[in-house]
Amino acid sequence: MNKAIYPGSFDPLTLGHIDIINRSLNLFDHLLIAVTDNSRKTPTFKLEDRIKFIKEEYNNHKGVEVLPFKGLLVDFMKNNGIKTVVRGIRVFSDFEYEFQMALTNKQLFSDIETVFLLSEITHTNLSSSLIKDIIRFKGNIDPFIPNSVKKFLMKHQKEFL
Ligand code: COA
Repeated sequence: MNKAIYPGSFDPLTLGHIDIINRSLNLFDHLLIAVTDNSRKTPTFKLEDRIKFIKEEYNNHKGVEVLPFKGLLVDFMKNNGIKTVVRGIRVFSDFEYEFQMALTNKQLFSDIETVFLLSEITHTNLSSSLIKDIIRFKGNIDPFIPNSVKKFLMKHQKEFL
């Protein structure tokens, strides 16, 4: 079976991530979406909620699995028998970070391959941080996030203001 992993913090899941997930599913039979805390950022949404958003969007999809992970991505990949990582690139400035990460991962685990998908042009401006600002200042987030996140925010909006 043709398997890949799409790791990220997904804080929260955006339509940009959904675009990368859907297009990965055209390339791979099985996609493990691995949710973690990025050590460089403080998360806004709880890990369990970030996982729930993805599960809700893909609950009928046999090819999608969603799991949390801690520690190095390469170790998690080895433990799950996966050698391909998918990452999205929105703009040129993403490339430097992704390039460093891909090469370092390869030094740690030589069998690994990183597949980069270029974001749809309509999603190149999206980032989870910008979306969180729009939430905080009560702007219209509808064009940026999926239904699972919208529903959650309708219930919990006060916590983010
Ligand atoms: N469309 C829209 N936005 C996108 C996007 C897309 N296709 N792809 C990424 N983004 C945005 C996210 O919204 C997020 O925005 P923010 O910076 O405003 O929060 C940002 O780009 C990056 O988020 P994400 O893709 O979730 O990844 P990340 O950079 O938070 O996480 C990991 C990177 C988890 C893959 C990395 O930290 C990791 O592997 N950690 C485990 C430890 C490890 O092995 N480290 C690497 C050693 S080489």
